Amino acid sequence: MPTTAVVGTQWGDEGKGKVVDFLARDADIVVRSQGGNNAGHTVTVEEEVFRLYHLPCGVLHPEKKSIIGSGMVLEPFKLLEEIEGLTARGIPVNNLIISHHAHLIMPYHLLIDGLEEERRTKSDSRGKIGTTKRGIGPAFSDKMARSGFRVCDLASPEQFRDRVRYACDEKNALLTGLYKVDPLDPEKIADDYLEAGSRLLNYTGDAVATLHQGIDEGKRILFEGAQGTLLDIDYGIAYPFLTSSHPVSGGMTLGTGLAPNRLDRIFGVVKAYISRVGEGPFPTEIHDEIGTVIRDHGQEYGTATGRPRRVGWLDLMLLRYSAMINGLTDIVLTKVDILDEFAEIKIAVGYELNGERVDYVPRDPSLLPLIKPVYETFPGWLTDTTKLSTGDVLPEPLMKFLNFISRSVGVPISLLGVGTRRKQMVELG
Ligand code: GDP
Ligand code: IMO
Ligand code: MG
Repeated sequence: MPTTAVVGTQWGDEGKGKVVDFLARDADIVVRSQGGNNAGHTVTVEEEVFRLYHLPCGVLHPEKKSIIGSGMVLEPFKLLEEIEGLTARGIPVNNLIISHHAHLIMPYHLLIDGLEEERRTKSDSRGKIGTTKRGIGPAFSDKMARSGFRVCDLASPEQFRDRVRYACDEKNALLTGLYKVDPLDPEKIADDYLEAGSRLLNYTGDAVATLHQGIDEGKRILFEGAQGTLLDIDYGIAYPFLTSSHPVSGGMTLGTGLAPNRLDRIFGVVKAYISRVGEGPFPTEIHDEIGTVIRDHGQEYGTATGRPRRVGWLDLMLLRYSAMINGLTDIVLTKVDILDEFAEIKIAVGYELNGERVDYVPRDPSLLPLIKPVYETFPGWLTDTTKLSTGDVLPEPLMKFLNFISRSVGVPISLLGVGTRRKQMVELG
């Protein structure tokens, strides 16, 4: 494995954490490039379940190096909690480099994320996004406005304190004026963040140099995507029901300083059906009992927020779109086992739009609510796939299902997820 990326091809929660954990066997360095602790990646090792939010899943292999790139936004207390929680479970995190240019999620970001969701809910012209309320949007907004705080700022306490006071002049005006809540105390924020900084700075460094040194030494690098392509701020479906970063393969290079031509393989993680947390268009959403069965079987409740996930059938128009935006070289189809007991399984193979058949995602987002999926129904495999291993003969109906997907997208399926555990992964071809 040279330089490999793992991206979510849907609206997140495709099983990226488990896939990264599996591929990390053959990697030397595992890197996260975007998002923050809006991500929730679950990895099951034997009987133990690990939930990771900021940290790359490579940390579960303590001998590997982990990098948090500058494209991430970090909540220092939660990040320290994650590091300390793993250490307490016998997994030392002492091979981690946090980019000193990663941005900080500040207390006002968290507050404003929640308050703005409430305000949008009450407004006629907007409507809420359904964010994770982790302060992600407000933190990325400040980054782009060039008024954010970076991890390296914690190394200059007096300047940091002055800048927190300056920032609070603006944020408190917003909190008290627009949102009618109490102002925040800049001195307390500075005290708390500098204390966290004194611990966090032990892990910080030049992530770009570390990454490129690794590449020069022939190390195998694995990039761990967070969120999913359909949540990308530019290419997601559809603005504004998106996250505020770039979960696509391009975002991995921007968020880490990797040159785009250095990505050798790009694995797209595809759940055998689709889920979405939060608001926004979802053409193949299932509203009946079958949706409830999939949600319950698949345990489709948010890792980060515990919210029930909306579920739907696999959508080939969206998958082809994701394959195109990311330049997928491989597909990892996950949660195949969740469909084991279904006699019939649907895949959307086209849309009907104003009475006409289309086989692409309409460019105009106002058309999205009008599209009606056209489904092809496949016979289920009605076999327990959770016991399948690499080299086993797959049930015929499952082979047909896989061949259909891979032919329709033009990308081979290399791995099949058949359970939550590390070993429940089938390598194909
Ligand atoms: P991520 O955000 O893409 O890493 O995915 P999450 O961890 O949020 O959600 C995926 C859930 O499905 C987790 O609970 C995983 O343990 C679980 N999972 C991943 N792959 C499989 C699989 O192939 N089969 C089953 N049954 N569960 C899986
Ligand atoms: P992983 O890495 C699923 C969704 C939120 C909301 C929208 C914006 O576990 O796949 P945000 O807090 O980012 O401003 O919320 O994006 N969202 C995710 N949905 N999995 C994720 O991450 C997500 N991260 C954000 O539910 O709809
Ligand atoms: Mg998740």
